[in-house]
Amino acid sequence: MIDTAAILRATREFSMARHADTAPCHDFSHVERVLATAERLALEEGADPFVVSLAALLHDIGRGLEPRLGPLPDRHEELSVEIAGPFLEARGLPRSVIDAVLDAILNHRHRRGRTPSSIEAKCLYDADKLDSLGAVGVARAYLWLGEHGRSVHYTAESWAGVDPANNATENDSIQREWQIKLSGLKDALYTESGRALAAGRHERMRLFLADMELEVRGEA
Ligand SMILES: [Fe+2]
Ligand SMILES: [Fe+2]
Repeated sequence: MIDTAAILRATREFSMARHADTAPCHDFSHVERVLATAERLALEEGADPFVVSLAALLHDIGRGLEPRLGPLPDRHEELSVEIAGPFLEARGLPRSVIDAVLDAILNHRHRRGRTPSSIEAKCLYDADKLDSLGAVGVARAYLWLGEHGRSVHYTAESWAGVDPANNATENDSIQREWQIKLSGLKDALYTESGRALAAGRHERMRLFLADMELEVRGEA
């Protein structure tokens, strides 16, 4: 008999330690929000709640190792799987549970042609993306911009002609991020429950950015 509550507690401790040194916009509070949202989506979508909770807790544990990679950057989902695998095996979980968790972690990003296919992976993917929208999305965007010396407001002219795929931090702004990525996120989620949550978060973020346009011109 698996003691799921004890395993979830141990996984939470393990993840918290792994996130001790991660930057504020991907600190353990991101994991806790993704967990809460993923648990809600799992319930509404009929996904396995244990698999979804484990995957949410472990999905970004490789982030802390990413900067040291040099020739292989931007693969924290693969690093998370490499670390999570032995951890889950040591808990004595069935192989099917471990594989389902690792699959969800690996597919929580669209990198190298990956896409979530199981309902558990879809719940994690959507919950992770939802943390980029709404009030929390605004706060996290500014945490990121602050880390990279960027400011409050930039006009569309400032990034005109810059390739949308160019992620160089000197082009970063919440306005550009909204235009090239975040405004389309609500239609790019995989679950009906995720899209329903995204609609409200999209609108709150859109209104925030619209208000800012007025305020920077002294019109509101
Ligand atoms: Fe991630
Ligand atoms: Fe994440």
